[in-house]
Formats: sequence, structure tokens, C-alpha cells
Amino acid sequence: MRVLVLHGPNMNLLGEREPDVYGRATLEEIDARIGERGRHLGAEVRTFQSNHEGALIDRLHAERRWADGVLFNPAALTHYAWSLRDAVAAVAKPCIEVHLSDVSKREPWRQVSVLADVRAALCAGRGLDSYLEALELLLEIAPGPERDAEGTVALLAERLAHPDERDVVARELAQILRRSGRFRWVALYDVGPKDVEVRGWAGPGPPAHPKFRRTEGLTAGAVTSGRPVIVQDVRGDPRHLATLDGTRAEAIFPVAGPTGVVGMVDVESANAQAFTAERVRWLGRCVEALGPFWEGSGG
Ligand code: DQA
Repeated sequence: MRVLVLHGPNMNLLGEREPDVYGRATLEEIDARIGERGRHLGAEVRTFQSNHEGALIDRLHAERRWADGVLFNPAALTHYAWSLRDAVAAVAKPCIEVHLSDVSKREPWRQVSVLADVRAALCAGRGLDSYLEALELLLEIAPGPERDAEGTVALLAERLAHPDERDVVARELAQILRRSGRFRWVALYDVGPKDVEVRGWAGPGPPAHPKFRRTEGLTAGAVTSGRPVIVQDVRGDPRHLATLDGTRAEAIFPVAGPTGVVGMVDVESANAQAFTAERVRWLGRCVEALGPFWEGSGG
């Protein structure tokens, strides 16, 4: 995985520039930390800073065949430089917008971002950690060959075609989905008239609640509406029933039978904002393919 990091105007003065707002780390230190974290995560990182809009565009163009994804802090250009928005759209690589400060809580003009409709996510307000969070998120969401939905659907269908104990099948289906989509945790649940019960899971540990009432947690919303519930940061959602420590984003996909919801797929990520529109579509397609797992279950 190859990551291009772009920093805009005045970022070369970090360390001495308004330290109360931007912290004391210099740009060299920030770049070194991103490079180091990248090495630990198996990513190659190239960084570039410029005080000029055109130079940032030129570098983005020049690296477009090399980079798999981009972390972009356009600094003040964020708020008015529309040619940067077009450049990001043109290169069509996943791009995460990064800011050291929390731009959403500053002057109104800083709350406008030209990247709003082309970025995959926004990481801001956490100083240097904004970049490190963005890097981890990018490594999770950037497309790779294993992300091909039809390939994953074929693997799921193949597994479903071999009858076995339901719990064994559920576990293996969860493993396929987890590996193919690079998710932290995946589980398949049966949804009964009163309770929701895990059938199989894949990830770092078992669910804290293998069985719970269908009126509890995020599941309640998915079961009632019959539609997926996506929470990009569970820390801000009171409905969240923690399955596993360390989860930041969660998606619940209900599966309908003839008389109502009979199953559900729970997908969790350690990164906030992990469920980009593209990944939600990908998951929707895979969950559709999982339908036969619940065939014959009463709603
Ligand atoms: C910034 C926020 C911008 O509004 C500002 O112009 C910057 C830095 C940040 O990282 O917080 O130069 O992008």
C-alpha cells in the first residue's frame, strides 16, 4: 500500500506557527511519525508540502499512478481552492482530508471544505494523531484486489453450497467477509421473535453479548426498519451495545425473511468513519448473497 501525504501552505512553519492551535511538533517530526507508523503497518509513505496550490496539484498528478491513497491537509486552501477538489476527483484515489485543529469549531470560513464531496473521510482536531488515525483508516478502506464484491460473493456462495452445522457455516462465512473486506470483526446472528443470538463470528474475540433482546442496541433500529444502521463513531451513539472493546464504527445489516427480519450481520471497525459509501454498497451486495443462510428461519 502506497500513501501520498500532502500538506498545504504555512505547514512548513509548524512548531513555531501558532503553537496553541497547531501544537509544537514540526512538519519534519510529523512526517517522520507518519512514515514510521506506515512502516509498522506495511505502507510506503511519500510526503510533500507546498505553499502553492498548483504545486500540490502537480504532485498529486505526478504520483497518481504510484499512490493507492492520499492524506491531504490543504491548510487554508481547504476553504476556497476549488482546483484542489477537481484534482482529487480527477485522480480518483481514496483521499482523507486531515487537519490538526478542529476546523468545525473554528471561524465559519474554516468550516467550508472544497473536498467535502470528494473525500472518503475527514480526520481533524487531534493534532498529529489526526494524521495517524487517517493513515490507519486509509489502509483499511483503500481498495485492493480482495475487495472485489463479485469475488467475495462467489466465495460466500461456494461455502453456502456445502451443508454443515449452522454454527460452523456461520463462522466460516464471517471469516470470508472479514478477510475480504478487511474488517475488524464480523458476526452472523439469528433474529428470533424476542431475542437475537450469535451463530458465528470472526475477529479478535467473542461478542460480549452472544444473546440479547431484539429491542436492544443498534440492532433494534435495523430490525424495526428493515434497513442497515451505520454508525461512524459509536462513542457518540447512546444506542450502541458494546460487543468488543476498541470498536469505533459499526454497521448492522438486517436480513429479511418472508415474515420479517430473521437474521443480521454485524460488522465492526477500529476506525471511526470506516464505512464509506463504497464499502456500504460492497457489504450490501455481500449480505444479499448471505440470504440463503437464513432460508427456512421463521421471522
Ligand atoms: C489546518 C486548518 C486550516 O484552517 C488552516 O488554514 C491551516 C491548518 C489544520 O491542520 O488545522 O493552515 O489545515
